[in-house]
Amino acid sequence: MVCLGNICRSPLAQGILEKKSKESNVNIYVDSAGTTGWHIGSSPDLRSIKVAKKYDIDISHQKARKFSTYDFKEFDKIYVMDTSNYRDIIRLCSNEKECNKVQLILKIIDPENNPSVPDPYYGEEDGFEKIYRLLENASSKIISEILINE
Ligand code: 4NP
Repeated sequence: MVCLGNICRSPLAQGILEKKSKESNVNIYVDSAGTTGWHIGSSPDLRSIKVAKKYDIDISHQKARKFSTYDFKEFDKIYVMDTSNYRDIIRLCSNEKECNKVQLILKIIDPENNPSVPDPYYGEEDGFEKIYRLLENASSKIISEILINE
């Protein structure tokens, strides 16, 4: 799960997918990172921690890190939150196999378009509720696709 700062959207996406995978007995390893190193080592934004907690998900232990090209080898799928993150990450892949791992996360629920998870950082708290719902929806679809392909 990749966003710009790795403190708002992608930590929440990680927490939601981890919870859903456990509930569905799907054995996957989920992590998150930022395209920038602006917040390396920081905990998630308090507003992300709060909305996660509301839905019984604890993301408070997470620490921000910067995306590394090693992640192309380590992970089967790289879900990015917006089109800007997509451009930044696709610039770093070095072969077709790696580039094909990168996908806009909301494309899984809206494949005809290139929808972005809006950056809630400069907005109000209701923006975090909104991104929670988008990510919850996308994560359910990710799990059901894994189960179908098992
Ligand atoms: P994120 O949100 O990419 O969802 O973690 C942001 C976090 C920090 C900043 C921008 C967006 N920032 O400008 O520091």
